Amino acid sequence: MELFLDTAEVDEVREIAAWGVLDGVTTNPSLIRRSGRDFRSVVREIAALCPGPISAEVTALDAEGMLAQARALKAELPANVIIKVPCTPAGLQATRALAAEGIGVNVTLVFNAAQALLAAKAGAAYVSPFVGRLDDAGQDGMALIDEIMTTWSHYPELRTKVLAASLRHPAHVLACMQLGVHTATLPAAVFRQLLRHPLTDRGLEAFLADWAAVEAAGHA
Ligand code: E4P
Repeated sequence: MELFLDTAEVDEVREIAAWGVLDGVTTNPSLIRRSGRDFRSVVREIAALCPGPISAEVTALDAEGMLAQARALKAELPANVIIKVPCTPAGLQATRALAAEGIGVNVTLVFNAAQALLAAKAGAAYVSPFVGRLDDAGQDGMALIDEIMTTWSHYPELRTKVLAASLRHPAHVLACMQLGVHTATLPAAVFRQLLRHPLTDRGLEAFLADWAAVEAAGHA
């Protein structure tokens, strides 16, 4: 299972990449806005820290505009940058054209299994269903992931990876693992929550105290 970091904060990428478990990064216009920094500079710095796919989103609404933005980003940014497009008719059209040019596309803002299948048919490398936003709207976000993975199991020819997005807490990630999701993108805080366990901390404390006693006895 690939683990991506959902952020436009370069320091967060540096921190989690240092763990040796980071497979990619997803950004979006809201995360870029929150960073307060220049879009291209941020993506360039992130792409230098993580060799995996780094999603950079286009903002045009028509296919021609999306293609122009995508090609410009691919020309200016490192090779591991892939293009994020919204799940709209224009987005599918742009996905088909970019895929034909060998450019990886992440189709974002997916909220039902039919959208996911259409994105896959258009040639997306990744399709991003948003779990937390469905939960926010009073629906069951993980049920969507389940539906999409079940759909994928019926059509083994689908090469598109299911990238669970808008994950807000460790339980979302654990559920994705059980469903065999290909990729999950999570905020840095969720990465940290996944790793921490009070029994790990307590066990380490006890081992260190015992080792100090071993050393004090001259038995180290
Ligand atoms: C995914 O690519 C998106 O950037 C992200 O997961 C959205 O998450 P949010 O719903 O918490 O904003």
